Amino acid sequence: MQIRARMSMSADGYVTTPNGWPAQTADPAFVSGQSHGIREFLEGCEAALMGRTTFEPALSNNRWPWPDLDVFVLGSHRPDGTPDHVVTDNDPVRLLAKLRSANRGGDVHLIGGPRTIGTFHALGALDTLELVVLPMLFGGGMQLTPMVGPDTGLVFQRERALPGGSVEIVYSCKGSRAELPNKPASQR
Ligand SMILES: NC(=O)c1ccc[n+]([C@@H]2O[C@H](COP(=O)([O-])OP(=O)(O)OC[C@H]3O[C@@H](n4cnc5c(N)ncnc54)[C@H](OP(=O)(O)O)[C@@H]3O)[C@@H](O)[C@H]2O)c1
Repeated sequence: MQIRARMSMSADGYVTTPNGWPAQTADPAFVSGQSHGIREFLEGCEAALMGRTTFEPALSNNRWPWPDLDVFVLGSHRPDGTPDHVVTDNDPVRLLAKLRSANRGGDVHLIGGPRTIGTFHALGALDTLELVVLPMLFGGGMQLTPMVGPDTGLVFQRERALPGGSVEIVYSCKGSRAELPNKPASQR
């Protein structure tokens, strides 16, 4: 089982739009149905792992976004309307143990956001960081840093041009450990 974070980001390094939407939602190529390679990526995955902030909008989607994946969510509470099959926990170490014990040999798509990626990286559990750099500049938004530190040892693995002008870059990041990101003061 590999834990593989995959994030879209603008060419100026923002993983969200200035309004807080995931970066890819601003890309006309993505919105018009080009997938940024996500289908191939998901072929080897059996589970999706994410933070509560990234998870909650899915509860009001018309379509459940992860029909073929087991879903694990890190958060202090189980949001209202969470389907029974979704596993939630407020302790990243315990959630990781649940993820591992449920594993049937497939990989885990670590969806994000930055804080949750930083959390699992700090536990030494992040195997790859895959970036999809969009051909767009946002001028603002949320960045992957400082949740994932600048001292993270990224080892280049491969790159690929995607339809619509995006570029996928895959790094391995085993071996480097950071501090668990602090909970923001407003959430303590
Ligand atoms: N570009 C992309 O590909 C992409 C992908 C995914 C998400 N995003 C964007 O990322 C943004 C959200 O990112 P985010 O970093 O703010 O939020 P997040 O990682 O999605 O969720 C953060 C929440 O997860 C829980 N959590 C994380 N680390 C924890 C720890 N060490 N201990 C306990 N709980 C922990 C906490 O939940 P509680 O508050 O319940 O305690 C925390 O508030 C959204 O705007 C979304 O659009 C972008």
